[in-house]
Amino acid sequence: MIEVKHISKDFVSPKKYPGLKGAIKGLFSNEKVVKKAVDDISFTIKDGEIVGYIGSNGAGKSTTIKMMTGILAPTDGECLVNSINPSKQRKENAQNIGVVFGQRTQLWWDLPLSESFTILKEIYNVSDEDYKERMEFLNNVLELSEFFDRPVRTLSLGQRMRADLGAALLHNPKVLYLDEPTIGLDLVVKDNIRKAIKEINEKYQTTVILTTHDIGDIEELCSRIIIIDEGKKIYDGSLEALKDTYGTKRKVSMEVKKPEKLKNLDLAGKLGVSLKDCEMEFDKENNLLSVTFDKHKLQVPQVMNAVMDVTEVKDIQIQETELAEIVKEIYNHGLADEAV
Ligand SMILES: Nc1ncnc2c1ncn2[C@@H]1O[C@H](COP(=O)(O)OP(=O)(O)OP(=O)(O)O)[C@@H](O)[C@H]1O
Ligand SMILES: [Mg+2]
Repeated sequence: MIEVKHISKDFVSPKKYPGLKGAIKGLFSNEKVVKKAVDDISFTIKDGEIVGYIGSNGAGKSTTIKMMTGILAPTDGECLVNSINPSKQRKENAQNIGVVFGQRTQLWWDLPLSESFTILKEIYNVSDEDYKERMEFLNNVLELSEFFDRPVRTLSLGQRMRADLGAALLHNPKVLYLDEPTIGLDLVVKDNIRKAIKEINEKYQTTVILTTHDIGDIEELCSRIIIIDEGKKIYDGSLEALKDTYGTKRKVSMEVKKPEKLKNLDLAGKLGVSLKDCEMEFDKENNLLSVTFDKHKLQVPQVMNAVMDVTEVKDIQIQETELAEIVKEIYNHGLADEAV
């Protein structure tokens, strides 16, 4: 459905100099700075996939989405969506795609929502029959009817987002681009939006590309994620593989009976690993000893046994690294440092 081949996007802007003098110098200078926002990215997305496109602020996500939707033309490389080049064949492309930018609405601010939908019906040439069927479905999953007659400017953020999603889907696009669709929403509305996206994907086989900073969106929706960093693709694969490969830390928390016995315990030494691979933390208030270790180097029973050798353990809890932690680590240090 989507083929992105070696696309890059450079933004060229005049070079800025500091201070007032600099501002004047800048006026007469021809020097330019080139920002490589997207740097040689390739991937293919199949029909009906939901892909999370993630990366830290300024990584180049929105720029890629803008090239895929045809708003921006790539500096290099090519992008094909349903065999159409989005920036060259914008009209044909528009029939195939739906776009929601969480940060701003695509609807007519002063018009009742119902009129926005009527206008979109005309723009996209949706037949009366299709309109009826589609509206029934969208009303069902997005519950638009409670505010359908109100002007868009009077809607709450959550209602506005549901309206925007509905509007993007009215012409039943093959591809849906969502740029931070749950930003600023409360937990219940977030959940509803995610359910709606899932239902739409299942019913119409809509391909969904989603950028988000919300780990919940990724865990709930995406079987595949693409991570970009400074304009370059650094990961493309399943969520499970990412967790498996990079979530190598485990944490075992044990409530111990005689904390004083832990004083002289050199756990890493006892288990024959370096301190970095077996970190101990003690919470005095709750008598809770937490050990964080590399799951490829140690096993839970080994750690437990070593502690139980010195004191009795009353309670135990085992945690895997959370996806949020893995992603934070990748944003901070990239993948190379993390690789096992
Ligand atoms: N029109 C533009 N002119 C110059 N530089 C731009 C332009 N648009 C984006 N950039 C720069 O390109 C880089 C990538 O921006 P982009 O908006 O794609 O990031 P993003 O991954 O969507 O970030 P965020 O998570 O903050 O939305 C940034 O350094 C940004 O400042
Ligand atoms: Mg962005």
